[in-house]
Amino acid sequence: MKQQTLWGHPKGLYILFFTELWERFSFYGMRAILILYLVAKTDELNPGFGWDNVTALQLYGWYTMLVYAMGVPGGLLADRLLGQKKAVMLGGVLIIIGHALLVINGEWQFYSGLVLIILGVGSLKPNISSMVGGLYRQGDAKRDSAFTIFYVGINIGAFSAPLIVGYVGEVINWNYGFGLAGIGMALGQIVFVYGQKYLKEVGNYIPPKFHEGTKEPVKLTSIEKDRMIVLLLSFLIVVIFWGAYEQAGGLMNLYAKEKIDRVMLGFEVPASFLQSLHAFYVILIGAPIAWFWVQWGKKGWESSSLFKMGLGTIITGFGFLLLAAAAMETMESLTGKAPIYWLFGAYFLHVVGELCISPVALSFITKMAPAKFVSFMMGAYFFATALGNKLAGLVGEAAQSAGELTIFLGLFGFCVGFGLLLILFVSRLKKLTHGADDVDDNVVVVEPE
Ligand code: PHE
Repeated sequence: MKQQTLWGHPKGLYILFFTELWERFSFYGMRAILILYLVAKTDELNPGFGWDNVTALQLYGWYTMLVYAMGVPGGLLADRLLGQKKAVMLGGVLIIIGHALLVINGEWQFYSGLVLIILGVGSLKPNISSMVGGLYRQGDAKRDSAFTIFYVGINIGAFSAPLIVGYVGEVINWNYGFGLAGIGMALGQIVFVYGQKYLKEVGNYIPPKFHEGTKEPVKLTSIEKDRMIVLLLSFLIVVIFWGAYEQAGGLMNLYAKEKIDRVMLGFEVPASFLQSLHAFYVILIGAPIAWFWVQWGKKGWESSSLFKMGLGTIITGFGFLLLAAAAMETMESLTGKAPIYWLFGAYFLHVVGELCISPVALSFITKMAPAKFVSFMMGAYFFATALGNKLAGLVGEAAQSAGELTIFLGLFGFCVGFGLLLILFVSRLKKLTHGADDVDDNVVVVEPE
């Protein structure tokens, strides 16, 4: 495979990077104002739907759940009909039309806009992620770092959108905000269309349904079955991880608002600002962490995907230990509040954990899934994310009766225990990968033209 390269990676990676950056800009921008729009009164200067909080939260919950659950049909669409590249193209178009509908004020436009965005993200997001893997050959050490680079792109979109789209939507006009999010996706689509020359060899494959010349369905070999098992295990890690991490938007958001002293240098940091902190940290430490793993691997130390994921779960657990310390301080302090630094520390550890798990899992899927199922398995991964988010909501609810300290300590214990267990069994589990996770230094994948 001859590919043009830039900074050691195929140029196609940067096309996917910017397309996904803009898709995430539109997604997180729209998400940032969705609930605020729903609850804004109908007779305000910048009117919304005038819903109550509960109804608005319900719709928001359904939206965030469905948008990732649709990854499954999105993956199937690529595997069965279109191939990944065309599925991404279609997804982008649906997202743009969806946002265009949201610009027009009106109920049916709003609902159909949301449906189109849900379908569009379902078609685009898993398939663009699979395409990143498609740029690299089996065994290429660069694959993992490519996914980290891609992940940094995601977070540049996620960081900037709430600030920009949030401002336009909340301060000027909700519909303009939605429009701006749509323009973001349109820019992504332009990048993708113009970048096609760097993506010629990736995302075209549509696997055959039957063995050649027969009506016998393509079955899995025993090696492929083993790999699917280990993949499903990694999905369990992902459910647990997001179940813990996504406390950020719910429980920890409320916690920050009520029980953290957010005054810094005489200025009170709004609780919602802390929601950008994760993405900011990813941008800051994404590259150093990718570099770290490369150096670590060069020393010949254990650096399998499952090991990284186990370690990531443990580090995330320690983030909750910091929060438990904050909760104790809250009880002891006279003001009933703990300093903000605990949150800075906890979120930092959560992001270190995220970078050991999330991009690694994306990369792992593209190594482990048989070519005929890659897109579907990627979609299933997004479904696991949706479940993790749901789990996070349940844990957050439980905290209302059990108290934060118990929940933070429980999450600490669970994550550390689970991560240790994983690391303990890593060498056995690795056998199930049959070498598909190994790095082969002899593989030279990216050849400059
Ligand atoms: N920040 C990540 C993203 O938007 C969160 C995420 C991870 C979402 C995995 C879905 C699946 O891509």
